Amino acid sequence: MRAIVLLLCVAGAATLLACPGERSTEPEAASVPPDVRADYAVFAVRCSKCHSLARPLNSGIDDDGYWKTYVAKMRRQPGSGISADDSVAILRFLHAFSLDLRRRKSQSLEAPDGSAVDPGAQGPSGRLP
Ligand code: HEC
Repeated sequence: MRAIVLLLCVAGAATLLACPGERSTEPEAASVPPDVRADYAVFAVRCSKCHSLARPLNSGIDDDGYWKTYVAKMRRQPGSGISADDSVAILRFLHAFSLDLRRRKSQSLEAPDGSAVDPGAQGPSGRLP
């Protein structure tokens, strides 16, 4: 029930630009900047229908081209309910998400404990010749 209230609240925030009294319990939602919340709401509804949101969010994909391919592929799944307008909003959210993910990945590259990630393993684009 709480999740539904949160989603309605997030969707409402697009027009009201405020959502008093409601604190997100989902880490993903909490880290979403206010200007991409409406897009996140579309993503959260559409991309959680057949699998959890962790599927896209933990996929490690941070490349707009890959997201375009994936969203098109998911949209073609029978009964996806994803419209052309939805995919525009979803791709906008995933673009912001990818920027954030790349930033977090580069921060972990600079980790002082020497556990740095191999720069060649940064994602699909990193492996291209
Ligand atoms: C109609 C059902 C459906 C919807 C809606 C849907 N997906 Fe999927 N998704 C699937 C199926 C089926 C798979 C494949 C599962 C498997 O292979 O185990 C999948 C897998 C994935 C994967 C993992 C692919 C991989 O190779 O591991 C990602 C990423 C993904 N979806 C992203 C999304 C995104 C983003 C959205 C919203 C735009 C979305 N999905 C909406 C059905 C759906």
